Amino acid sequence: MRVLLYRGDGQIAAWAEGLARAMPGVQTLGWQEGEQLGACNYAVLWNPSHGLLAQLAQAAQLKAIFLMGAGADTILKFGDALPSAPIVRLGDTGMAVQMAEYVAHATLRYFRRFDEYEQQARHGLWSPLPVYAKEEFTVGVMGLGKLGLRVVETMRAFEFPVRGWSRTPKELHGVDCFAGMEQLDDFLRGTRVLVSLLPLTSETNNLLDRRRLSTLPQGAYVINVARGAQLAEPDLLTLIRSGHIAGATLDVFRNEPLPAPHPFWDEPRITITPHISALTVRSEAVRQIADKIAAFEADQPVDDIVDRNLGY
Ligand code: NAP
Ligand code: GLV
Repeated sequence: MRVLLYRGDGQIAAWAEGLARAMPGVQTLGWQEGEQLGACNYAVLWNPSHGLLAQLAQAAQLKAIFLMGAGADTILKFGDALPSAPIVRLGDTGMAVQMAEYVAHATLRYFRRFDEYEQQARHGLWSPLPVYAKEEFTVGVMGLGKLGLRVVETMRAFEFPVRGWSRTPKELHGVDCFAGMEQLDDFLRGTRVLVSLLPLTSETNNLLDRRRLSTLPQGAYVINVARGAQLAEPDLLTLIRSGHIAGATLDVFRNEPLPAPHPFWDEPRITITPHISALTVRSEAVRQIADKIAAFEADQPVDDIVDRNLGY
């Protein structure tokens, strides 16, 4: 069996070693811009180019494409150039717990006022601040998939009131569930800490615009760990400066790396991280991909196949 490995950053050596260990007898191959692609049965990719996908679309023996991450927007954006083979994304593989760590940290930093205590300490100030009421700190998680559900579970363990929003209706113990565009405003109205764990699709692009962000209650806090294009960045800034939104922790941006002159860098109420909230854990990812290739070979059902119509 021949498996193509490709990453936009060229770092495939460790993936090739891992796959060889997980699938004895597998032949891995690489590809560089301008090369003719060799025959392959599976492709394992991250940030592919248009040129590679055009060649894969002609690869007669290609059975499936695996992504080295969770977000299918990274490949679906190529639209008509995509091969017809199924696209399979990573399902958790160690990312859910990282998301839970990140969101818990950002929420607790704001709720327990650690951000303000950091400032006070810098000025040598010993001054306990009033405590926020937990019952008023509803955490609202947009996206109740592999990652969102783990965040919901974690925030419930800290005894925050938790609500969730998804495309299809859900019933989750101890969580107020909302679904669809018709329930989005109700969801936002009662959310004090907003977390996005939605995939980037035509429906979620620019979803968090000025009107929707204004629907959040006064003093709300925004955590975006999904994709930058879901958030209207100038609108968030305006609402933070007007005092309606208290602040934000952002891991993802419309343009990455976040450009040097971007006004977010100068806004002290915005905490910025460089798209690290949940990194691919290569060993777990390789194991899952090897298991899924085995399932394809045995004509067994495979999880996490991307629905191209839904965009995730
Ligand atoms: P997932 O399992 O596919 O879950 C997606 C969730 O979003 C589902 O609950 C889905 O609803 C909901 N959803 C999709 N479209 C919606 C819409 N139009 N309205 C309301 N809800 C909608 O995805 P995941 O594995 O949890 O990953 C989520 C995203 O996290 C990825 O797509 C990626 O962009 C991002 N991510 C970021 C990082 C990082 O480091 N920053 C790392 C990994 C992933 P249903 O349940 O009804 O289908
Ligand atoms: C990272 O952003 C991913 O989608 O896995």
